[in-house]
Amino acid sequence: MSMNGWPATALGDDLRGKRVLVTGSSRGIGAALAAAFAGLGARVALHGSGQSGAAEALAAELSAGGAVARAFSGDFRDPRAVESVVDGAVDFLGGLDVLVNNAGTMVGRMPLASLEDSFLDEVVDLNLRSVVVACRRALPALKAAGGGAIVNTVSISARTGGSPGSSLYSASKAFVSTFTRSLATELAPERIRVNAVSPGTIDTDFHGRYSSPEKLAATAARIPLQRLGTAEDCVGAYLFLSSERLGGYVTGQVVEVNGGQLMA
Ligand SMILES: NC(=O)c1ccc[n+]([C@@H]2O[C@H](COP(=O)([O-])OP(=O)(O)OC[C@H]3O[C@@H](n4cnc5c(N)ncnc54)[C@H](OP(=O)(O)O)[C@@H]3O)[C@@H](O)[C@H]2O)c1
Repeated sequence: MSMNGWPATALGDDLRGKRVLVTGSSRGIGAALAAAFAGLGARVALHGSGQSGAAEALAAELSAGGAVARAFSGDFRDPRAVESVVDGAVDFLGGLDVLVNNAGTMVGRMPLASLEDSFLDEVVDLNLRSVVVACRRALPALKAAGGGAIVNTVSISARTGGSPGSSLYSASKAFVSTFTRSLATELAPERIRVNAVSPGTIDTDFHGRYSSPEKLAATAARIPLQRLGTAEDCVGAYLFLSSERLGGYVTGQVVEVNGGQLMA
């Protein structure tokens, strides 16, 4: 115990043994987060779309380091795949304490004039429907655990609208922000806290696909902390919101992690 009664190992102790599913943890923010949970002694179910085998490789690496970790794959444009990943994770973990809904992407930059209905369906299914379906499917396990935490990944673009061609992506993340706040009220009696992390411009494969180096350099120059974020920069906010000890009185919040790119 420290002088103020706060154990120095409070965070690690709190998450040790917790059963955690991180969707979209084959790379980027989710991979950094899954590794951090495993490092703190949590049991971790990882997930990727199944295209690359990267989630399996990371799970094997974490297991070799002594963690309890296994990867599940499923294309989250298909709600049945979402259900199957949640079911597989709950089965492997023996229950669920923390659900991190992180899988998602912009799919493409699509100006309104060339926007096809099939593109709308794809963005909605991946970024929005998958979060609703995962929360619904995980609910019995979270209730059976006597409570827990849901942390959703949204985006700075949910509030700014993003840049040209990202309207549907940005709006899908805004849906998840509002869904987060509403579920927080609904699930509070079950002792399930629901929060979100809203990354700013984070240097992952995401921007390799959707932003030019020039656009990223210009963005970095405008950020008060004078750099893009890293996946690791995002990890602390998720751990805080997942931890009953640290974030146990925090629910319905969207925590912005953006180097000061957006304030208020
Ligand atoms: N990077 C940023 O600046 C930024 C900013 C705000 C919000 N975000 C959000 O943060 C989250 C993580 O993004 P990131 O930057 O870490 O990007 P990333 O490196 O591209 O990782 C995206 C993750 O989502 C998974 N995913 C993508 N499409 C999928 C599909 N159809 N089915 C199942 N899983 C799928 C990927 O799996 P595979 O590897 O198998 O494809 C991967 O694990 C996303 O929700 C993103 O929208 C990112």
